[in-house]
Amino acid sequence: MSQTWSASMPSNIALIKYMGKKDVEKNIPTNASISWTLDHLTTQVRITKKESGDDEWQALPSDYPFEMSETGLKKFLGHFKRIKEVYGVTDTFVIASANNFPADCGIASSASSFAALTEAACVAFEDLTDKKLSVVERAQLSARGSGSSCRSFLPGLVQWTEEEISEVQSDLKDLHHMVILVGAGAKKVSSSEAHKMVKTSPLFNGRVERSENRLSLLKQQIAPLEWKALYENVWAEFWDMHSLFETSQPPFGYFLPGTLQVIETLREFWDNEKDGPLVTMDAGPNLHLLWRKDQKELAVKYFETYVKAKWTCLSNIEEVGFAKF
Ligand code: PMV
Repeated sequence: MSQTWSASMPSNIALIKYMGKKDVEKNIPTNASISWTLDHLTTQVRITKKESGDDEWQALPSDYPFEMSETGLKKFLGHFKRIKEVYGVTDTFVIASANNFPADCGIASSASSFAALTEAACVAFEDLTDKKLSVVERAQLSARGSGSSCRSFLPGLVQWTEEEISEVQSDLKDLHHMVILVGAGAKKVSSSEAHKMVKTSPLFNGRVERSENRLSLLKQQIAPLEWKALYENVWAEFWDMHSLFETSQPPFGYFLPGTLQVIETLREFWDNEKDGPLVTMDAGPNLHLLWRKDQKELAVKYFETYVKAKWTCLSNIEEVGFAKF
């Protein structure tokens, strides 16, 4: 009988963004980042030992089937090979994977895919060898495949610096999450390319300083929680990252007309209610909203008023999400 191992890992959304690499080969970030782990958006990976032949990838049956691009596949299998080398494994395997959400539309599927690939491979190879890695060592290994994936190994608020990956203690607990999907087409510029391109922007000068200032501000704003100030901080940070994209040489960007329409509704909502969600964007056109547990009614109100009739929304709030988690 063939041997099979599985793992499922969550995605995460950065509040302070990892953008730009000090070392491209090793994925060393130019600045520290902080994310929130999205437990409800996951990738499942199943690894099965083969009798012969090369490592190969297959899609698992899923409500959200996806194809991997040639470059994506090369990166994915290249990372698997790296993990085999760490454990000294020479067997070959079929790697099957699926997301419980649509891929390639700026919901950070690379974070959950690489985290799940790393975790499933570690589970398999620890079964086949005597080597053992700690959670943080697995996360560090995952960062070699996709930097942001290392943050998915820990729950809640997670910080990734050049030196370490760690949980950040805060008054933020069990946040509600919504992604408003204004576009679901594949990205024209991958995050790997974006990390290189931003260095050509005149705004990259000072980027490390700006992100680090926001990061230390964020730490002051989470305990005790200063929600509005945190919202303003996180808002400025996503605009900073997208400004780097738009001022690169040549410029590139992810905004669609719908992106600005949704941003406008969020401004209006915050103005009217004097309250609202944290708002951020990944390298994609979609809006990520984070709400505190006690803001659930407010979140449903925002959804009913501005989203329901117009946009697809993926959420962990039952009354809102279409998603089958
Ligand atoms: O992990 P990568 O190389 O796919 O980079 C992800 C970068 C962003 O998602 C845009 C920001 C972040 O910190 O997650």
